[in-house]
Amino acid sequence: MQLNDSGLLQTQGFIDGQWRSAMSGKTFEVINPATGALLAEVADMGAAETREAIEAAENAMQSWKALPAKARCDILERWFDLIIAAQEDLAQLMTAEQGKPLAEARGEVAYGAAYLKWFSEEGKRVYGDVIPQQSDRRGLVIKQPVGVVAAITPWNFPNAMITRKVAPALAVGCAVVLKPAAETPLSALALAELAKRAGLPDGLFNIVTGLDAPAIGGEMTGSKIVRKVTFTGSTPVGKLLMRQCADTVKRTSMELGGNAPVIIFDDADLELAVNGAIAAKYRNSGQTCICSNRLLVQAGIYDKFVEKFAEKVKAFNVGNGALDGTTHGPLITTKAVNDVHSKVLDAIDGGACVVTGGKPGAQGAHFYEPTVLTNVHSGMRVFREEIFGPVAPVFKFDTEAEAIAMANDTEFGLASYVYTENMGRIFRVSEALEYGMVGVNETAISSELIPFGGVKESGQGREGSKYGLNDYLETKYICLGGLNRA
Ligand code: SIN
Repeated sequence: MQLNDSGLLQTQGFIDGQWRSAMSGKTFEVINPATGALLAEVADMGAAETREAIEAAENAMQSWKALPAKARCDILERWFDLIIAAQEDLAQLMTAEQGKPLAEARGEVAYGAAYLKWFSEEGKRVYGDVIPQQSDRRGLVIKQPVGVVAAITPWNFPNAMITRKVAPALAVGCAVVLKPAAETPLSALALAELAKRAGLPDGLFNIVTGLDAPAIGGEMTGSKIVRKVTFTGSTPVGKLLMRQCADTVKRTSMELGGNAPVIIFDDADLELAVNGAIAAKYRNSGQTCICSNRLLVQAGIYDKFVEKFAEKVKAFNVGNGALDGTTHGPLITTKAVNDVHSKVLDAIDGGACVVTGGKPGAQGAHFYEPTVLTNVHSGMRVFREEIFGPVAPVFKFDTEAEAIAMANDTEFGLASYVYTENMGRIFRVSEALEYGMVGVNETAISSELIPFGGVKESGQGREGSKYGLNDYLETKYICLGGLNRA
C-alpha cells in the first residue's frame, strides 16, 4: 500500500475527536484478503469505549443541532472535497483491506462522497407544515433531529455504507457513533481523519473499532441515550438488533439481506440483458446485497442467454485487485469461500450442471471461481439463500405469471431487475414485484439520488434521496391556539 498521505492510515479508535487505543491495550489484525498479508493492528475496543463515545456524541450534539443548517452543511461539503482529493489513497486502502479491484474502489469512494455532497444540499431543506384547524388555532409541524445515532456498517462497502448513514444524520443535527466491520476498519478511520480536517467538531463522528460486536452492539442498543440504530448487514443480525432496540423503543433503519431476481423475457435486448446481469451478479465478486442472486430466463431465449453470459464470465481476470487488469477480486474470508462452495455443492447434488467455475479459485485461500450453473430449481439453496459470492444460477421459466411467482418466492425484498421491451409488461411486472427497488433494463440502480432500501425481511427505512433524511428526523406537532384574541 503506497499512500500519498500517510496520515490517512489510522489504527486507533476515534472518540470525541481523539485517536484512542483500547482501554485493554488489545488490538486485532486487519488482513489483505488477496495476499493474506498483515495490513495493520487496530484498537480492539468494547463496551466501555462505546459508552464513552455515546456520551461524547450526546454532548457534541447539543450545540451542533442548534447551528443553522447551512453551517452544518458547509462542513459536510468540505469533507466531500477532501474525500475527492484523497480518492486514490482511499481506494488503495479499500482494495488492500476489502479486495475489490482498484477501479471499483475508486468508484465506491466517489459514490460514498456523493452522499456527503447530496445531504450537504438536502440538509438545508428540512421543511415543516402549517395545518389549518379551527379559526383560532393552527397546527405547526416541525422536524427535529432524532438524537444520537448508532451505526453499524459492513465490510463489502467500507466507505459508502458509512457516508450514506453519517451524512444525513449530521446534516440534520444528529451525532453518530459508528462501529465499522472488523474486516475493514481502515477505510472508516481514514474518513474520520478527513472529517477532522474538514472541521467537524469533536464528538459528532465517533468510531469504535473492535472484534466484540455483541459487546459494542449491546451497548449501543441498550443505551438510553442512543435514539436510533442504523444497520447494514445480514437479516439474522438485523433481527437481533431490532429485538434489542425494543426495550428502549429506538428508531431503526435496517438494510438487510437480499435475494435479487433478474427476470429476462424472450423479448429482451439480449446484449443489454447479458451485460446488465453480469454487472449485477459479479460486482464486488458477488458480495453486495443487491447482487442478482437468481437469473430467471424465459425458455425461448434461455440457451442463447447462457451461452453469451458464460462466454463473458470465462473472460474475467480474477486476482489481486491492486494489480492492473484484474476484473474481479477475492472473497472477504475463507469462511465466505466455504459458504459459497457449500451452496454450489448442494446445487450439484441436486442435479445442477456447472457451465463454468464451480470450485475455490487457484489464486489463494480467499478466491472462488466465477461460476455459472444451469439445470437448477427452486428447491436448491442457490434459489432460497443469499449466495454472496460469484455464482450465477440460471433458472428457466415459461410465462410472465410464473416469473413473478418465482421472483416473489422469497422472504427477501431488496432489489429486483427486469429485462423486456414490452411497455405493458414493464408496468405489470414492476408493480407486481415485492421489492423495494426494481431496475428495468438496468442493473446499476444505486446512487445518492434514489431511495435505497427493501421490504419484507430485507429491512426498513430508506437511504439516499430526499427520503433518506426522514430516517434521522422526528416529526413534532405544535398546536398554536388562542389566535382570535385581539
Ligand atoms: C449493499 O450491497 O449493501 C449496497 C450496494 C449498493 O449501494 O449499491
